[in-house]
Amino acid sequence: MSQNITIHDKSFVPFIDAEGINQRVVALAKQINEDYAGKNPLILVILNGSFMFAADLFRKLTIETTISFVRLSSYAGTSSTGAVNTLLGIKEPLTGRHVIIVEDIIDTGKTLASFLPVIAQQEPESVEIATFLVKPTALKYPVHARYVAFEIEDRFVVGYGLDYDELGRNLPNLYVLA
Ligand code: XMP
Ligand code: MG
Repeated sequence: MSQNITIHDKSFVPFIDAEGINQRVVALAKQINEDYAGKNPLILVILNGSFMFAADLFRKLTIETTISFVRLSSYAGTSSTGAVNTLLGIKEPLTGRHVIIVEDIIDTGKTLASFLPVIAQQEPESVEIATFLVKPTALKYPVHARYVAFEIEDRFVVGYGLDYDELGRNLPNLYVLA
């Protein structure tokens, strides 16, 4: 697989390769295709980190479905700042829709715990979460994702859409802080 890399001041080592990622994305898409047949779910992508996961997942959905994007932020550098700012609001009416939120990673759960009530206000028919990664031991808020590509330990990762101070998003493989 790939080599160790340096981003800004830090070294990262290979963690999950593109082929391993693709296998999980295929499996999640299959599950969603089965669970949401005839339900026309709205895929609500939380930018920026999940754009690559969302694109790969979305292109594998064979059911009728639509997609929309929101931008939230709670991270600076390699640790959560705690404060979540909604940077770009929801344009799409969610009322009566089956919503699948797509996230890159659930760390403390703070981002989604503060965002879920905002979604609930619009009275969607159902809300589930699809996330590329979960760090179960870092979880501090009661957030449950129905679709999870990988559970990982509490270490900082980059690649496949995830960044270290905005760099590394373009890497097709996932790397972990050395
Ligand atoms: P919370 O704590 O709100 O954090 O669940 C979720 C958001 O934090 C970012 N995050 C990371 N980004 N590598 C990253 O590049 C990581 O290891 C990592 N952990 C959390 C991410 O933006 C996510 O949406
Ligand atoms: Mg980030």
